[in-house]
Amino acid sequence: MFLKFFPTPLLFLLLCSLSTILADYDADPTRSTMEQFSGYPTQEPDSVSSFSVDAVSSFSVDAQGLQKQIDELSNFSDTPSPSVTRILYSKMDVFARRYIKNLMGLSGLSIREDAVGNIFGRWEGYEPELTAVATGSHIDAIPYSGKYDGVVGVLGAIEAINVLRRSGFKPRRSLEVILFTSEEPTRFGISCLGSRLLAGNEALMKSLETVVDSQNISFFDAARAAGYANDEEDLPSVFLKKGSYSAFVELHIEQGPILEEEGISIGIVTAIAAPASIKVDFEGNGGHAGAVLMPNRNDAGLAAAELALAVEKHVLESGSIDTVGTVGILELHPGAINSIPSKSHLEIDTRDINEMRRNTVIEKTHQSAITIAKNRGVRLSEFKIINQDPPALSDKSITKAMQAASQELNLSHKLMISRAYHDSLFMARISPMGMIFIPCYKGYSHKPEEYASIEDIANGVKVLALTLTKLSLY
Ligand SMILES: *[C@@H]1O[C@H](CO)[C@@H](O)[C@H](O)[C@H]1NC(C)=O
Ligand SMILES: *[C@@H]1O[C@H](CO)[C@@H](O)[C@H](O)[C@H]1NC(C)=O
Ligand SMILES: *[C@@H]1O[C@H](CO)[C@@H](O)[C@H](O)[C@H]1NC(C)=O
Ligand SMILES: [Zn+2]
Repeated sequence: MFLKFFPTPLLFLLLCSLSTILADYDADPTRSTMEQFSGYPTQEPDSVSSFSVDAVSSFSVDAQGLQKQIDELSNFSDTPSPSVTRILYSKMDVFARRYIKNLMGLSGLSIREDAVGNIFGRWEGYEPELTAVATGSHIDAIPYSGKYDGVVGVLGAIEAINVLRRSGFKPRRSLEVILFTSEEPTRFGISCLGSRLLAGNEALMKSLETVVDSQNISFFDAARAAGYANDEEDLPSVFLKKGSYSAFVELHIEQGPILEEEGISIGIVTAIAAPASIKVDFEGNGGHAGAVLMPNRNDAGLAAAELALAVEKHVLESGSIDTVGTVGILELHPGAINSIPSKSHLEIDTRDINEMRRNTVIEKTHQSAITIAKNRGVRLSEFKIINQDPPALSDKSITKAMQAASQELNLSHKLMISRAYHDSLFMARISPMGMIFIPCYKGYSHKPEEYASIEDIANGVKVLALTLTKLSLY
């Protein structure tokens, strides 16, 4: 089924006349010389915006084709359907990448891959010297997860390009679809590996020289097996300069329940919360659970328990609903019912859209860890901040473009915060950034039950396509 939204003979006529205008416009050498000279379109701004107003009703998403691609891509998995497991540089990851590159080729995009396997598909604009507008997401999947996380933003971006081609649109700024390498930390413990590197992270580049996976396979051996990183020295070539793109937009499932609960089609992300994670180790004295009396204990397990509660307390003290903290890992050694824990290990995740508030939680947690260790006579052998990323604010002009696009498409929308982080968090360091959310079933994600309806996905693709036209003509 080929979904056509609101086709009427009149609009079709308008569109035809419009593509004629645009074709003439492209063909006029005087005008294009003037434009190259001035750097600005000589076309009246009115007719630029009227393109979107008229063409928008003709936007047709091939919903059935897109659903088929989502299903086919989910087949490249190391676990049986409906679960998806697609680990960085595995055979299935390589097959899936090949599948995406083939689709990019069919959409007429020219393809470039960098040394770690970020993939770029480019549609050259009629002013190719201008910085491009980019969109994209990831296709790697944690073990036993679903088929929509990330995938909607890659296949959806390619379909948005197809929508624009069918509508007769000609981009002024080039448009690029990006597939980011390893958004998930599964294999090497590094999340958003591709986009962090694109944003020029030298410390990460250094650490890749030594990092190994659980099978003791080095990052570079794994990358080479997938056809990348043939020259280790070449890693700095992945870095993109600040300002390489004039805008970056990511389409993604919400991974939360708000849009579905409120019956809203489109979420426009205004900020991505700042994540931080911390590893903590306490060392006390073990002993027999019966023989050692309570006053004589230095229980590392109770220190960990007390710190977990302290994290909750410090988060609540911030007074903001946007501050969150989680102790998702709490391990006791030796882990026997009749043995006092001699060692404990916690991993703490805390996030906020306000970086200072988030950092206050980290600082207070550190102070608590020191105090708890002292009071319980245990040693705080490690308090290590693994990552402490700043939050990212969406760019106002991109948010406005996304709002206008939703309005012109008559889609209900609301402004919201992304509490999960995405490649966009890192793209924001080198480009103005925005994100489009679509509803997903009960907010489920990272499990096989993850689901988004093709109607919601098609809406997201249309908003993305229209937003890209605005950003490309700008
Ligand atoms: C997935 O793979 C199986 C077995 O290789 C095949 O029978 C099935 O048609 C594939 N499904 C899709 C949607 O490609
Ligand atoms: C991992 O591989 C390195 C280099 O091949 C080797 O020196 C080291 O002993 C290995 N470590 C383990 C735990 O197997
Ligand atoms: C949006 O609604 C208005 C008013 O009902 C209508 O004129 C317009 O064609 C609609 N646009 C789209 C893209 O459906
Ligand atoms: Zn994702």
